[in-house]
Amino acid sequence: MKYEKFQAPKGVREYLPPESTAFEWVREQLISPARLAGYQLMELPVFEDTNLFSRGVGESTDVVSKEMYTFEDRGGRSITLRPEGTAGVMRAVIEANLDRGQLPVKVWYSGQYFRAERPQAGRYRQFYQVGIEAIGLDDPAIDAEVIAIADRGFKNLGLKKYSLQITSLGDAASRAAHRADLVKYFATLSLDEVTQARAALNPLRLFDDKRPEMIEAMKSAPILLDYLSKEAAENFEKVQSYLKNLGIAFEINPRMVRGLDYYTGTTFEFVHSELGAQSGIGGGGRYDGLMEILGGQPLSGIGFGLGVDRALLAAIAENTVPQSAFTSDLFIIPLGENSRSDALRIAEQLRAAKIRTEIAFGDRALKGAMKAADKSGARYVIVLGDAEISSETVELKRMTDGSTKSVKIAQLANELQRALITD
Ligand code: HAM
Repeated sequence: MKYEKFQAPKGVREYLPPESTAFEWVREQLISPARLAGYQLMELPVFEDTNLFSRGVGESTDVVSKEMYTFEDRGGRSITLRPEGTAGVMRAVIEANLDRGQLPVKVWYSGQYFRAERPQAGRYRQFYQVGIEAIGLDDPAIDAEVIAIADRGFKNLGLKKYSLQITSLGDAASRAAHRADLVKYFATLSLDEVTQARAALNPLRLFDDKRPEMIEAMKSAPILLDYLSKEAAENFEKVQSYLKNLGIAFEINPRMVRGLDYYTGTTFEFVHSELGAQSGIGGGGRYDGLMEILGGQPLSGIGFGLGVDRALLAAIAENTVPQSAFTSDLFIIPLGENSRSDALRIAEQLRAAKIRTEIAFGDRALKGAMKAADKSGARYVIVLGDAEISSETVELKRMTDGSTKSVKIAQLANELQRALITD
């Protein structure tokens, strides 16, 4: 009997060695700026009450209306695999009363998200995000800090070919004034019923309509930036001046439409130029009303989500993934049965000193083991036989040029730490 093999579900993104090592490196580069800015980890469920997303993310969005993985659980509840992170963070903050403590609540998260989109390069049905949220403080300086944290992540990756677009969706007064004129403008167009219904839910959605006739029609539509209240305009000015002061280049894109309905005030997107159609490597913004419509206090917040899959594609396109992400520092080749035990002990000590150490197990002859060491890309190699053990000295071989140096086994950790820094 021969069984059929299985395949991964369509459109999911999974990472296996060696690519997973590059993925891990990318994710760490994107997370580390948030940790350094005092954001703390939040680990949340990958599934939530469906209503959390329909109410939080918004019925007018493609994410909610077309792309959710929704199912009934065994208790008859409607459950949805999270399509994004912000609504879940807000739910957890409200549920745990974190908003009653020190503000802002500053959290980061990382994990899988699910959207039933048409799969293509850079667009997956299960994808990965790293994100942060700063909740409970309405201050343009936080807006600038949040953007700077995302930007630092991309800089950590060594990326150069990306740009930052920002705009402001203003406050409630700005949006009401704009909406009135936008609705008047829509009345001059002959919109079909579906489009009218979308416009009724969120008139800004029509700026994101990809049909050529709609793109044309929306060219003369009133722009929200022209309707900012005095306060909203001043806020946006401040964000821009902070970014300039930080040396972070940006372009104002008044026609930017984020794919989620909760945005207000500062919104932004990072776009990479080498990724084709799926060029958005991260985005975010402020959300004034979100906590309130999810049953909490009327507190504002701001955050971002960065696409780890796309950031990896960008790093590959710009060739910035360092070889050292993949390779061990030292490869130990034990010769003969006696040296295995010493190899294990030495490797343990070196790993305790944070030196990445691999052992060539098995009964391979020296030549084969050397080949394996070479293939592994390890930066240094030692051979451990009876002679080395009795003299307590090994020949530390540098693989880049084949040079060797005698080193006391007790001194190996020190020597390698020094060598790895100066290499
Ligand atoms: P978003 O713009 O929908 O924002 O997603 C953030 C990033 O996730 C995108 O810029 C993109 O890099 C990546 N991404 C989205 N969909 C896919 C997909 N199907 N395949 C691969 N990558 C994808 C949010 O999700 C907001 N929660 C961000 C946020 C946090 N706003 C405020 N706080």
